[in-house]
Amino acid sequence: MKQLIENLLKQSIDAINSDGAISADLLKNIRVDRTKERSHGDFATNIAMMLAKPLKQNPRQIAQSLIDNLPKDDHISKVEIAGPGFINFFVNKNSIATALEAMSKDARLGVPTVAAPKTIVVDYSAPNVAKEMAVHHIRSTVIGDAVVRVLEFLGNKVIRSNHIGDWGTQFGMLIAYLEKKENESGSGMDLSDFEAFYREAKECYDTDEEFAVKARHYVVLLQGGDEYCRSMWKKLVNMTMVQNQKLYDRLDVTLTDKDIMGESLYNDMLPVVVEDLIKRNIAVEDQGAIVVYLPQFKNKEGNPLGNIIRKKDGGYLYTTTDIACAKYRAQNLHANRILYFTDSRQSQHLETVWAICRKAGYVGEDVSLEHCPFGMMLGKDGKPFKTRSGGTVKLRDVLDEAESRVTALLKERNSTLSEEEKQVVIHNIAIGAVKYADLCKNRTTDYIFDWDQMLAFEGNTAPYLQYAYSRIRAIFRKAADLEIGKIVITNEAEEDLANKLLAFSEAVQSVGSKTLPNLLCNYIFELSNLFMHFYEACPILKDGVEKEVAQSRLALCDLTAKVLKQGLGLLGINVMEQM
Ligand code: ARG
Repeated sequence: MKQLIENLLKQSIDAINSDGAISADLLKNIRVDRTKERSHGDFATNIAMMLAKPLKQNPRQIAQSLIDNLPKDDHISKVEIAGPGFINFFVNKNSIATALEAMSKDARLGVPTVAAPKTIVVDYSAPNVAKEMAVHHIRSTVIGDAVVRVLEFLGNKVIRSNHIGDWGTQFGMLIAYLEKKENESGSGMDLSDFEAFYREAKECYDTDEEFAVKARHYVVLLQGGDEYCRSMWKKLVNMTMVQNQKLYDRLDVTLTDKDIMGESLYNDMLPVVVEDLIKRNIAVEDQGAIVVYLPQFKNKEGNPLGNIIRKKDGGYLYTTTDIACAKYRAQNLHANRILYFTDSRQSQHLETVWAICRKAGYVGEDVSLEHCPFGMMLGKDGKPFKTRSGGTVKLRDVLDEAESRVTALLKERNSTLSEEEKQVVIHNIAIGAVKYADLCKNRTTDYIFDWDQMLAFEGNTAPYLQYAYSRIRAIFRKAADLEIGKIVITNEAEEDLANKLLAFSEAVQSVGSKTLPNLLCNYIFELSNLFMHFYEACPILKDGVEKEVAQSRLALCDLTAKVLKQGLGLLGINVMEQM
């Protein structure tokens, strides 16, 4: 419907633009939006205001001539001027019903695939080896995964890229310590507590000179490709990622082993990139180090900021790796769009990397580089979220606590579910609640981790939305004899619900373009609210409701359930028949 109105408007503008006063650029900006208030019709545009300047006329006058030149269309029942020059469109009720019928027959629920699919690399999760995933990793992992699901659903080729921190000088120490532990415990060891492992390794390094010498030696060997050190390193990577994969599975996140493209992948490219940048005078030597100066970034004295890409001792940096990585994504993976889901504190780092890549022509101007930053996770006290003793909160512990809290909550309710079904319900609610709490806020702001808020069965929470779905499924169990019928819009509650259902496609598309899952969360929340309102106002199984009306309402229930399931599914959240 939005598309249709935009097309009608375009035709009308063409008609009044015979002398070409309206530039093509302006025409690109024609936008029709859904209205928030019923009295403003279903859709509105401010185009007349935008045309006032180029046409040197007053907006209301322009609005009137646009309306006069608008082609007749059966879907539109009325067009009005409002306020300073808004144009409001009222959609024919029958058209709404027809559009809903089409939507309910469409497996994609009216969401089209993109005309020109893109190759999109999504850099997300990216935990570090020999460390446990901390609770803050959930941000990148869960938000990134929701965007990946949406982009794929829209028909793009998505390459998940788990840029794990699997390289660096610390590996000498870690290998030496792994060796020590293996010698002590006989054969292979099972690493379950990375926190302790890392701490103990560091302790040995700091206090045992013999150990430290060995550790430094191992770094050199590892970098030189020594087989023993490589195999010990590989063990550390594998042990870490086996544990992380358990968390991904538990979180219902789509990442697998195949998506691991860690820092080490780019090792061989680093010397080549640095040599190339030197040769082309983009990088220069400065006191033994290799540095790129970029005029757009200044230091405190106002001079161009130097970015080291190779240290005096020959070592490479996080920046060097990310330069090679962006180049690889553009040139080898042929990405049209590269998304980085990392902490907002990495924005300066990424800006630098990209500026160097653009300057060197490694990433063409036609490739879009996008940082999708997120704020910090805070405790209820507004300070960074920490354990009581001030340590980092482990993601695993948070998921355990979520499940035990939900188990306790469900104990208070009467339930006819079997033990097995109950376990699934507990998992879905607990994981859904934790994920949704992170997804539903605009990711750019810091966010407060609050158990009571996220587990509430009311408000903008996963349990509330999952409950809305289960409630609809319960209607179908009760209305087993009633069939879904033709949709007829007979009152405002139905009409509001119908219009919201038709806006699903716009909500999904906005997540794809803006990489903000909260837009879809808001949509689903508003849909659920409208459904609850509809359900109270429009009885289905009550005596005296005509069969056709009941069947139409049942069709609205069915479509709402489908949209809820699909929408929550795109966010990586499961729904249940009963909960
Ligand atoms: N491993 C990094 C961290 O934990 C995030 C990596 C982000 N991706 C990138 N290409 N730099 O902070």
